[in-house]
Amino acid sequence: MPARLILLLGVALAALSLAPAALADGIGVYPPDPQSPNAEGINESYTVVLIFTGLIFVLVEGLLLFFILRFRRGRRHRDEEGPQIHGSTRLELIWTVFPVVILVVIGTVIFAKLGKVDHTPNALAGEQPLEVTVKGYRFYWQYEYEDGVIAVDRLRAPAGRTVSLTVTAPDFDVIHSWWIPQLGGKIDAIPGKVNRTWFRATRPGTYVGQCAELCGIQHAAMLATVEALPQEEFDAWLAEQRRAQQAGTSDLGEETWAGACAKCHGLEGEGLIGPRLAGSALVRDAAALETVVRNGRNAMPGVGRDWSDTQMRALTDYLEERFASGS
Ligand code: CUA
Repeated sequence: MPARLILLLGVALAALSLAPAALADGIGVYPPDPQSPNAEGINESYTVVLIFTGLIFVLVEGLLLFFILRFRRGRRHRDEEGPQIHGSTRLELIWTVFPVVILVVIGTVIFAKLGKVDHTPNALAGEQPLEVTVKGYRFYWQYEYEDGVIAVDRLRAPAGRTVSLTVTAPDFDVIHSWWIPQLGGKIDAIPGKVNRTWFRATRPGTYVGQCAELCGIQHAAMLATVEALPQEEFDAWLAEQRRAQQAGTSDLGEETWAGACAKCHGLEGEGLIGPRLAGSALVRDAAALETVVRNGRNAMPGVGRDWSDTQMRALTDYLEERFASGS
């Protein structure tokens, strides 16, 4: 067997041995298992493009290696000219027509999938989509349900039902991007502009995502979670939250603390990027605290500029109870 053939085989085998690792779920080039129809559409489109680009990669790199070996100088003197070739109509037609055909096929598939990704599915008989407003703030996600219930960072939703999301950001904030890969593509949360997306979780579970637009110092901490619950469990949770948030006995204060404050001030109030809160005089003064939270101070953005009084009260009560003693 000639040496160059052995070399070529070796390279091909090495490349093939890496392919399973590259394709394995989660660690390689392949997106995570879709759990919503729109995420399925995105993954199917991705697979089509991956197959074509993969084949083209192998073809181009294979030819490159072949030509390097086949037409290397060898024993020919370096001043000696190679054969002079002028054009080949057949070859030129092939490498013009083939890419055109490939692009048409890819374009057709993508346009066919687009409807599945983009359009909120029609409600099933007797089923209304759940409407939730998703707002991106520096550096947390705030969710508002139709009946006024508020949640931070963790979005609870019914599994098996369409959830229609209105994605935006307050005028005073910056651009963020909502993205839960298993539940569909990312969509920007732009101050003063409203975008829409949706998901329909195929089964109960916890799906994680991340703000996908560089939005400042704590962009990396701006995680998002969707917890899909069975419908009855979700209904019970929502009803309990509505009751508890109106009565001021909910865990909204703690959730707001963890999402909006603790990423900079430390989960124990110990101080990280922002100053220490445990034992600070500020947490005992609800009015002063509200001023800082609404207007910001120094490097701190006004994280709660447009919060409702309910949410502000929940936070100031929680901070006083937890940190006034300096624990
Ligand atoms: Cu918000 Cu990055």
